[in-house]
Amino acid sequence: MTGGAGFIGSHFARRLFERGDEVVVLDKLTYSGNRANLEGCDVEFVHGDICDPEAVAAAGARCGAGVNFAAESHVDRSILGPAEFIRTDVLGTQVLLEWVRETGARFVQVSTDEVYGDVPRGVSSSEDDPVRPSSPYSASKAGGDLQVLAYVRTFGVNASVTRGSNTYGPNQYPEKVIPLFVTNALDGEPLPLYGDGRQVRDWMHVDDHCAGIELVLERGGPGEVYNVGGGEEVENRELTRRILELTGADGSLVRPVADRPGHDRRYAVDTRKLRELGWAPTRTLADGLPETVAWYRANRDWWEPIKSGEYRQFYERQYAERLG
Ligand code: NAD
Ligand code: DAU
Repeated sequence: MTGGAGFIGSHFARRLFERGDEVVVLDKLTYSGNRANLEGCDVEFVHGDICDPEAVAAAGARCGAGVNFAAESHVDRSILGPAEFIRTDVLGTQVLLEWVRETGARFVQVSTDEVYGDVPRGVSSSEDDPVRPSSPYSASKAGGDLQVLAYVRTFGVNASVTRGSNTYGPNQYPEKVIPLFVTNALDGEPLPLYGDGRQVRDWMHVDDHCAGIELVLERGGPGEVYNVGGGEEVENRELTRRILELTGADGSLVRPVADRPGHDRRYAVDTRKLRELGWAPTRTLADGLPETVAWYRANRDWWEPIKSGEYRQFYERQYAERLG
C-alpha cells in the first residue's frame, strides 16, 4: 500500500497488520507523512515516491495487491499550489497502474466524493454520476480515477475505485478542519470559519472508511466505483459548536473569515452499492467526535511538533490575511 504513513493509510496498515497480513508501505514522507503514525505496527516501510517506477517496482516486488492512499490531499494547499497535486494524484496513479499492468496485481484507488463536485440539498451523488470537480485537488483526484477506469477498459487490469466522504479520527494532520479546530481550541487560538459556515460535509469515522476500502479490495469488481460515506451531514458552524463544547473553549474564538475560492457547498453520496456488498458505518459523530477530541487532548506530543516549521509557513500563507 502507498501513503501508509498518512492519516487514513496508517489506520488501514494497522488494520491489515492486526488481521495478520504482510504489509509493505511505500511512502514519500511529505509534510503529512509521519512514521509515528505506524508506531507498533510491524510493516515493511519503503521510503519512496509513487511517481518513481523503480521505487514502485521495488516496494511491490512481493505484493499480490496494491491500495493507493498516497496523494496530495488538502484543498487549500491545492489552491496555493496546484502543480504537485497533478504530479502525485494523476501521474503517480498512472505509474502505479503500469505496475498493476505488468504484475497482474489487484488494485484499489482510494478517491474522494469531491470528484462529483457539490450537490444541492436533497440530492446524493451515485457512482454513475459524471465527475464535476471544483478545486485543483478534486480535479487531480478525478484525473487519477479516470486513469484507473481507462486502464481497466483498455488493458483489462483488475482495479476498483472508492470515493470516500470527509473522514476524521486520530492521527489526522492538523490542516483539516476537525484537527485544526480541535488543536486551536485546546491552545486558545482562533477557529477560522470560512464564509457563512453553512457548508455541509458528510462525516465518516476513519475506521468505517478503512472497512469500506478493505471490503472493496476483497470483493469489489474490476472497473467498479464504490461510494463510502458516513451519512452524517453537518454544517460547518454546527461542527464548530460541537468542537467548542467538547474542548470547553470560548465561542469568541470563532472567527468568520474570507471564504475558500470555489468552495463546494455540500457533498452527499449514495452508498447503496457498497452496502449491498455488506458494508455499513458503525460509528457516529456522537461517539467518534468526543473520542477524537480526547485523542488530541492526550497526544500533544504527536501534534505540537507538527505545528512548527513547514506548518507555520503554510498557516501564515493560508490564514494571516484572513485573520488580520
Ligand atoms: P494524508 O495527506 O494524511 O496522507 C497522504 C500520504 O501520502 C502521506 O503519508 C504522504 O507522505 C504520502 N504521499 C504523498 N505524496 C506521495 C508520493 N508522491 N509518493 C508516495 N507517498 C506520497 O492524506 P489522507 O487524508 O490520509 O488521505 C489518503 C487518501 O484518501 C488520499 O488519496 C485522499 O485523496 C483520500 N481521501 C481522504 C479523505 C479525508 O477526509 N481525509 C476523504 C476521502 C478520500
Ligand atoms: O470529502 C472528502 C474530502 O474531505 C477529502 O477528499 C479531502 O482529502 C479532505 O481534505 C476533505 O476535504 P474538505 O475540503 O471537505 O475538508 P477540510 O477539512 O479542508 O474542510 C472541511 C470544511 O471546513 C470545508 O467546508 C471547509 C471548512 N473549513 C476548513 C478549514 C481548513 C473552514 O471553515 N475553515 C478552515 O480553516
